[in-house]
Amino acid sequence: MRRILSGDEWTIVQECFDDENSLFSESIFSLANGYMGGRGNFEEGYGGKTLRSFFHAGVYYPDKAQYGWYKIGYPLKNNKVINSPDIIGIKIKINGSKLDLFKNSFKNFKRILNMKNGLLKRSFIFIDKDGMQSDIIVKRFLSMHNKNLLAISYSIVPIDRSAIVEFEPYIDGNVTNSDSGEKTDCFWKEVYKDEESLVVKTKSTDFHIASTMRVKISLDNKPLNSEYISVKKGKYIGQKYIINLPKRTALKIEKFVSSFNSRNIEKNEILKLSKSDIANNSKYDFDYLLLASEKKWKKIWKKIDIKIDGDVYSQQAIRFNLFMLNSTYTGEDKSLNISPKGFTGEMYNGSTYWDTEIYCLPYFLYLDSQIAKNLLLYRFNFLPQAINNAKLLGLKGALYPMITLDGNEGHAEWEITLMEIHRNSAMAFAIYNYIIATGDTNYMVDFGFEVIANIARFWADRVIYNSENKVYTILGVTGPDEFHNNVDNNWYTNLMAKWVLNYAYKQSAWLKNKNEEKFNEICKKYNFKKEEFKKWQEISEKIFLNRKGDIFVQFDGFFEKEQLTIYDVPHDQLPVVQHWSWDRINRVSLIKQADVILGLYLLSDHFTLNEKKENFIFYELRTLHESSLSPSIYSILASHIGLYDKAFELFKKSALYDLEDINNNTEHGLHITSMGGTCLSILEGFIGLKVKDDKIQISPYLPPEWKLLKVRVIFRERLLSISISKKEISITLLKGDDMDIFIYSNKFNVNKEKCLKCRRIIYNSKN
Ligand code: BGC
Repeated sequence: MRRILSGDEWTIVQECFDDENSLFSESIFSLANGYMGGRGNFEEGYGGKTLRSFFHAGVYYPDKAQYGWYKIGYPLKNNKVINSPDIIGIKIKINGSKLDLFKNSFKNFKRILNMKNGLLKRSFIFIDKDGMQSDIIVKRFLSMHNKNLLAISYSIVPIDRSAIVEFEPYIDGNVTNSDSGEKTDCFWKEVYKDEESLVVKTKSTDFHIASTMRVKISLDNKPLNSEYISVKKGKYIGQKYIINLPKRTALKIEKFVSSFNSRNIEKNEILKLSKSDIANNSKYDFDYLLLASEKKWKKIWKKIDIKIDGDVYSQQAIRFNLFMLNSTYTGEDKSLNISPKGFTGEMYNGSTYWDTEIYCLPYFLYLDSQIAKNLLLYRFNFLPQAINNAKLLGLKGALYPMITLDGNEGHAEWEITLMEIHRNSAMAFAIYNYIIATGDTNYMVDFGFEVIANIARFWADRVIYNSENKVYTILGVTGPDEFHNNVDNNWYTNLMAKWVLNYAYKQSAWLKNKNEEKFNEICKKYNFKKEEFKKWQEISEKIFLNRKGDIFVQFDGFFEKEQLTIYDVPHDQLPVVQHWSWDRINRVSLIKQADVILGLYLLSDHFTLNEKKENFIFYELRTLHESSLSPSIYSILASHIGLYDKAFELFKKSALYDLEDINNNTEHGLHITSMGGTCLSILEGFIGLKVKDDKIQISPYLPPEWKLLKVRVIFRERLLSISISKKEISITLLKGDDMDIFIYSNKFNVNKEKCLKCRRIIYNSKN
């Protein structure tokens, strides 16, 4: 995709809109507030390429899974977060011409996303069928202050002559997902409607959504009390207005919608709530309501911002990542999680993936450990389902699903997604990560041990002993690299299983010592015996980890594949997944995403610098980064081994994955979970942030293009501001007690009295 976006450090600007980039820009201009959100669709509709989508977090439907050939163990249902009623819509006709940027002419198009306050603004001159022009300005936001509120301001000024403007703000429950396995009207059923409210419910999951709209009209800023015709048909309500608009007079339509779902509220209450909420809010105007949301954003930015001076391009990109990730998931609700596309597209069904534990949770650890804990509890609460998932495959212990909304496996693709059992270790590793960062060992007692022990039990049952080589093997899996399916001894899978078994074994001893009563209670509940823990240790010691010289072999037979490097692929054949057959992809050594490198990143301390370097060089040459989850991990490892130019190149790839449509698939939605990885490539990569032995360590590097890098980090009730400039590192303790910190392995004390300053070691890529 050619770069069609511009802007500055706080804005994303689009001045060139056409049908070719409409889907891409719909994704880029998505808005959300954690509760609900949707793509950057036009209020008035668009007759060209469009994916009209608006979702309520966690409101899903068990769609029918579709298989060519069903086999035992495949899920029967394909849970998906479904499109909820369209609340942004306003149909518009000017002098009989339907306002549609696909069918009619327009000029001076400009769309701006203001990331500082979450306002989306669009302006253009619309040219109707008679060649008459009207000035249009549309603004929209989803309130961060009141999570149920959507506000739109739509202004029309006829330039050349007076105009008859017909418009119809509406709420439409006739929505479906473009890939649904069932018929449209199966998702939503009408419960109630009147002139301003619509209540619908899903058929089997019984989620209710009530939405109420209020419309305010003004002419040149003077309120106009105009009659409307109420339109009610099926699951649709609209308010149709016809206005005779004098030349150069500004018609402003303000549409406010309050939408509640029944996830955490009694379903009989939601209509009442949406009606009273809209009555309260529609007393104010658009700008006033925006102010309240803006104030909330100000607070959020104070907490999350990563400041980069000297490189507007990187600054804009990192803010885009922060804006989208933090408006997708706000962390208060333990029953919600982060889907790879958030609210920006249907792909991945709004479900939870292992992405959360590996890419997002570590980011939240430095931002707000309560959010990280809520993410862990989400998995803890689904432990019974994970135990059942393992049982369905004929195995003991717990197997967390690859894709889920209700704890059960929710995806219908066997070799790729279901065979990626490596995800199970991610759940255990997240617990370890959380405890290391927070020191909250009670988590292990209250929740963690049950999870890791059941995951260890799964691995102990899943391994196969090879008596000839006296090793345990794990056969028939897909590693993180989805380009090679059904492989044996995926190095990453084996490494992490080995780690989990050892960790669970050690934690069993720790828990017995710390709280014997709780330990006995858990052993009784799951029938764990001393011998079983011992067995985990034995298996862990003997899990097969294949290496050839210094190279860790990604899976058995990797070297027998046709050995290609990324330079063997002509540019016009990228991404290969859109140009090559699956068979061709499978038979060569090119890999989709961090696999061995992910293992080296997660268990960095287990490997020597030389091992990390050799493997980085080897696998980087073969990695296409056709998953957004890949470049950030390579970037962090590159920072750790001193390949700083490479680290910066890969950071940019991660940060710009959507803005520059690096993988030619942003049109399906943004890569929300990988945005956590992008932030980590700054925090853990350039800053070198790490928690070891209850202390923070940093070893900062500043890319030459940057003059200053500033972040805030939370660590055990302390709030630190860390600034890295060309020559200096400054650390200010903003909240909490004095603490020690390691900078390039030297110990310093940080206290409230004065800001800690020390010289920065200047590295270059040859280090
Ligand atoms: C990646 C997976 C990832 C999924 C969702 C796929 O393209 O290969 O690792 O979990 O996207 O982000």
